Amino acid sequence: MDDKKYIIVTGGAGYIGSHTVVALRENGFYPIIIDDFRNANRDIIQRLEETLKEEVIHFSISCQEKSRLSGIFSQFPIYGVIHFAAYKAVGESVKNPLKYFDNNFSSLITMLELVREYEVKHFVFSSSCTVYGDPDEIPVTEDSPVSYNSPYGFTKKVNEEMIEQFISSVPDTKAVALRYFNPIGAHASGTIGEEPEGIPNNLLPYITQTAIGLREELTVYGDDYNTEDGTCIRDYIHVVDLAEAHVAALKYLPKSKEHMSTFNVGTGKGTSVMEMVHFFQEVTGKHLKYHIGDRRDGDIPKIYADTNKANDLLGWKTKLTVQDAIRSSWKFQEFISDYRK
Ligand code: UD1
Repeated sequence: MDDKKYIIVTGGAGYIGSHTVVALRENGFYPIIIDDFRNANRDIIQRLEETLKEEVIHFSISCQEKSRLSGIFSQFPIYGVIHFAAYKAVGESVKNPLKYFDNNFSSLITMLELVREYEVKHFVFSSSCTVYGDPDEIPVTEDSPVSYNSPYGFTKKVNEEMIEQFISSVPDTKAVALRYFNPIGAHASGTIGEEPEGIPNNLLPYITQTAIGLREELTVYGDDYNTEDGTCIRDYIHVVDLAEAHVAALKYLPKSKEHMSTFNVGTGKGTSVMEMVHFFQEVTGKHLKYHIGDRRDGDIPKIYADTNKANDLLGWKTKLTVQDAIRSSWKFQEFISDYRK
C-alpha cells in the first residue's frame, strides 16, 4: 500500500502553485501537478525539478477534462486537493465575464465531483481578498462583509459558497478557503517566480520589468487617495510564506472541527505604492523611472488583513519581509530575462 500523501495541485505550474509545490515537497507531501499550461510556461517543470533535485509528477490536463482526471485519481491515493487553477485578471473578467464563469465555475465543479467520487478528505481552495470588495473597516477579518466588484471577484465569492454547500454533503471531507492578499516575491534560488504574459497588471512585476528595461516607465495609479502619501495601500505577502500557508492548511484539516473554514493569508501590514517604489530602489540600488498617473478603475484605496485567525488556528505566520520579496523578485527578473533570450 502506497502511504505517501499525494496532493493534487491544480494550477501547479502557475505563480503561487509552483511555490506551493516546492513547500509541499519540503514538508513531506507528494504534489501532483495538474496544469494545461494555458497560463504558464512548460519549462517551469524543469526549473522545479532542478530546485527540488527530483522528478515532479505532472499531467498536462485541463480541470474540465473529468475522464482524464479520473485516471489520475484512480492511479494515486489522493490525500488532498489544492485547487489553484482559475482565471484571475480583474480587468479581463469585466470585458469577458462568461470566460470567467465558464472556467472558474466548471473547474471547481469537476474537482469537487472527483473529491466526492474518490472520497478525498482534504480540500484547499485558492480564494482572494477581492471578496472583501472595498471594505469599510480595516484590517479585514474573516467575518468582514463579503462582496465583489468584478466578475472575477464574483467567481471567488460564489466558489467559496459552492464549496461550503458541497462540503456539508460529504461528511468525511473538510475544506479550507485561503483568502490571499497581494502575493509578491520569488523562490530564493531566483529560478521560480512570477512571469506574467504580456504587460504586467500587478505592481511588482511592472516595477522589475521597468528596471530591467522591458518597460519604459512605471505609472503610479493615483496619488490623491485618502492615505498618508496619497497612493493605495495593500498587504503584500511573500509568495514563499503564502506557499507555507497551504502546508499549514493541510496539516490543520485533519484536526479541524469545522467542515469548512476560511483564513486571511496576509502579513497584517499595509504598504503604499510609493513605499514599494522606494523600497525597490533601496534594496536593488536601481533607479526606477516612474510618474504619477490617473487612478486605475476599480482600485480600492486601502486594504490589509487581520491575520489572527490563521496565526492561531493554522499555527502559521509570515517570516519574510517586503524587502525580502523585492530582493528575490529582482533576482528572478534578472534570471528569467536572461533565460528567455
Ligand atoms: C490585483 C487584483 C486582485 C488580485 C491581485 C492578485 C485588481 C483590481 N485586483 O490586486 O483581485 O487578487 O491583483 O495579485 O486588478 N499599481 C500601480 N501601477 C501599476 C500597477 C499597480 O500604481 O502599474 C498599483 C495599483 O493601483 C494598486 C497597487 O499598485 O494600488 C497594487 O496593484 P496590483 O498589483 O495590480 O494588485 P491589486 O490591484 O491590489
